[in-house]
Amino acid sequence: MLSPLTQVLSRTGLDALVLVPGANFRRVFNKDFHQMERPLAVIVPRAGEAVAVVPNLEMGSFQAIGFPGRVFDWRDEAGYQGAVMAAGEALPQLRNGARIGVEGQRMRVFDLLALQKAFPGAAFMDAHADISRIRLHKTADEIARLRQAIRLSEAALEATLGEIKVGMTETEIESILLRNLFAHGADGLSFAPIVAAGDNAAKPHAHARPGYRIKPGDALLFDFGGTYQGFSADITRTFFVKEVSDYDRAFYDAVLRANETGRAASRPGIAASELDDAVLNVLERSQFAAFCRHKTGHGLGLDVHEAPQIMRGNDQRLEPGMVFTIEPGLYRDGEAGVRIEDNVVVTESGIECLTSFPRALRLVG
Ligand code: GLY
Ligand code: MN
Ligand code: MN
Repeated sequence: MLSPLTQVLSRTGLDALVLVPGANFRRVFNKDFHQMERPLAVIVPRAGEAVAVVPNLEMGSFQAIGFPGRVFDWRDEAGYQGAVMAAGEALPQLRNGARIGVEGQRMRVFDLLALQKAFPGAAFMDAHADISRIRLHKTADEIARLRQAIRLSEAALEATLGEIKVGMTETEIESILLRNLFAHGADGLSFAPIVAAGDNAAKPHAHARPGYRIKPGDALLFDFGGTYQGFSADITRTFFVKEVSDYDRAFYDAVLRANETGRAASRPGIAASELDDAVLNVLERSQFAAFCRHKTGHGLGLDVHEAPQIMRGNDQRLEPGMVFTIEPGLYRDGEAGVRIEDNVVVTESGIECLTSFPRALRLVG
């Protein structure tokens, strides 16, 4: 069970790793826990037995994962610091001069402060990237789960489009999409969906508005995904309501060409930076260069944004089994935005595009 972490310890030379609930935790233990006001942490030393600190109300669920180590639980009225100190007593080899790696993008400050009290003299460092490498190459079973998340999400989008009418609000459309996601078998949401029309579509991470009614000529952007057994789809399609101007059609076509270029250029061996360059060059050489705001994409799996980041400056080469998004976008502040996002897996000879929802410009409503 802990062997992926043992490998990280060997590769990095760290003396211990600490995992908190999240994607890495789920990959190792096949279980996730809420991250709220109650800390839960697993400490895996290079030598000796692993130790966990667990809120008492989670003990039933925690025992079910078959954790191979000592567990110190704590009750609300007692607080967590005593259990964290007991974990420190149980791991004397980590108290002085030890180098302990933590998930810098996941562990909260109060988790870290509690650990620092229990391991005086140890140095804590960010090992997020090293730990997350255990999720970089997806197994066939993981890809099958992602494929199912994508399949149900695309079916939910098609069903939603059939229900849209001019005059609906963004939040009404969002609620239809949510209903359809669960009706098609989603067991959760990749993230709160983005349903954004008109000027709101120009915000890459917009929130649906209860007070805005869609009208002819609006762009209507959906960025959403259902989850299936932990794996998240992350799909964007942009439509126009009833009609589209020539200018918006050209705007859309520029994004579509960038998306096509990204799918055509993706292959094992290409650097993430090179792929981003190919995609962004299409946008930057178009008449819409000023409206380009973000990189091509990001890895996708148990986390919605994970390695490999498809961006200039990242020299990581793509390898079979890596899964990532290709999601070029253009954003005209106050007017409209277009993004077209696909999910792909690298194969031995190229990529397989897991998303298949049509990309040709479509009018709805
Ligand atoms: N959806 C664009 C980005 O987060 O980069
Ligand atoms: Mn997305
Ligand atoms: Mn994305």
